[in-house]
Amino acid sequence: MDSRRTIWMRVVGGCVLGLAAVWCAVGGAQERVSESIQLPALPADTLPPTELLTSIPLGFERWPEPPADNPLTLEKALLGRRLFFDSILSRDGSLSCASCHLPDHGLASPDPVAIGIGGQRGRRNSPSLYNVAWGKSFFWDGRSMSLEEQALAPIVSPLELGSDLPAVVGKLRRHAAYPQLFAEAFPGEPDPVTEANLAKSLASFERTLVRAGAEVDRFHAAEYEALSPEARQGLWIFESRGFCWQCHAGSNFSDEAFHNTGVGFGRDGRDLGRFEVTGDERHRFQFKTPSLRGVASTAPYMHDGSIRTLEEVVEFYSKGGAPSDPGLDPQLRPLHLSEVEKANLVEYLKALSK
Ligand code: HEC
Ligand code: HEC
Repeated sequence: MDSRRTIWMRVVGGCVLGLAAVWCAVGGAQERVSESIQLPALPADTLPPTELLTSIPLGFERWPEPPADNPLTLEKALLGRRLFFDSILSRDGSLSCASCHLPDHGLASPDPVAIGIGGQRGRRNSPSLYNVAWGKSFFWDGRSMSLEEQALAPIVSPLELGSDLPAVVGKLRRHAAYPQLFAEAFPGEPDPVTEANLAKSLASFERTLVRAGAEVDRFHAAEYEALSPEARQGLWIFESRGFCWQCHAGSNFSDEAFHNTGVGFGRDGRDLGRFEVTGDERHRFQFKTPSLRGVASTAPYMHDGSIRTLEEVVEFYSKGGAPSDPGLDPQLRPLHLSEVEKANLVEYLKALSK
C-alpha cells in the first residue's frame, strides 16, 4: 500500500513539473508579446434556433415546470442565450458560460476538469446542460436548488468567470444593446437590468435546451426498427442484468439522487461530494446521477472527468465500480459482461444520443 502511494505521489509530482514547464513556456511567450495579450477564442453560438416547447417531447412524460416567478418567454430565453455566449460576464472578457459548456460538445467540455479565468483548474468536470429543465437540484453535489440560484454562481466563482455581480450589472447597464433587451424581456419593470433578472434570463435559456426523441424513445414508442439489434441487447442489459436503470431512471435517465459509484476511490484528496453539502456521513463521496441523454458527445465522464470513453465507463461498471470501496452503493456489483455485451451496452448509450 505504501509503495503504491509513493508511486502515485511521484506521478502527481511529475504532472505538476510538466505543467510548470508548459506554464513557463506560455508565460515567457506572453511576456514577449505583452502588448497584445491573446485571449482564448470564445465558442460560437452554433445551437439551433431557440423555440419554446409546444408539446411534451418524445421520451418524456411531463412538461418541465419553470418556477411561478419566472414563467418561460421567448424574450427571456433569447436574452439568456446572448448572455450565455457573451464574455461580458467574466472579469477580463476572456470566457463565457459556453467556454465550459460547449455547443459542439453536448454543452459539456472536453477538459477533464473545468479551466476557468486565467487558466485556473477547477476540481470537477463541466456537465452537459441539456434537459436541466427537468432537474431537481444542480451541481454534482446538488448544492443548488434552482437554475435561477445556480446561474450567478459561475459568474462570481474566482475559479470560473471571476467577476462580481455589481460590476457585471454595471457593464450591462452601460452596454449599447442590453438595456433594451432586458426591458423587452421584463416588460413594465422600471429598472430591469438587475442581478435577479440576469439569473432569470440565463435560467430561461437553459430551460430551452432539450434533448429528446432519441432512437431509444422511438423504440419505446413501438418504432422497433429504430434500434439496431446490438443496441436492443444493450437495452436489455441496461434494464435487467446491469441494474443501470435503478439510478439512471425515468425519462431523463436520472433518479435525481446521489450515489457513490466508487469514482475516485483510493485517490488522495478524494472529492467528498454530497457530504460537503449535508455533513451527513452517509453522503460521503456521493454524486448526483447524471442524465445519459446525449452522453455520446460529452466525454470525458464522471464528476472528475476521470473516464475517457463510453467503452471505459462500461468496463468500470462491468467490474462493479470500485468493489473494495467500503462506501460503494449496494446497487453496484460486478456484472462480468462479455466483450460483445460491453460493446452492445455502448451501442445502447449511443442510441440515447441519436
Ligand atoms: C470554468 C468553467 C465553467 C464556466 C465558465 C461555467 N461553468 Fe457551469 N459548470 C462548470 C462545472 C465544473 C460545473 C459542475 C460544478 C460542480 O458540480 O461543483 C458546472 C455546473 C453547471 C450547472 C449545473 C448542471 C447540473 O446538471 O447540475 C449549470 C446549470 C451551469 N453550470 C450553468 C452555467 C452558466 C449559466 C454559466 C455562465 C454564467 C456557467 N455554467 C459557466 C463549469 C463552468
Ligand atoms: C448506484 C447508482 C448507479 C447505477 C446502478 C449506475 N449508475 Fe451510472 N452513474 C451514477 C452516478 C452517481 C454517476 C456519477 C458518478 C461520479 O461522477 O462520481 C454515474 C455516471 C455514469 C456515466 C457518466 C455520465 C457523465 O456524463 O459523466 C455513464 C455513461 C453511466 N453512469 C452509465 C451507467 C451504466 C451503463 C450503468 C449500468 C451498467 C450505470 N451507469 C449504473 C449512478 C449509477
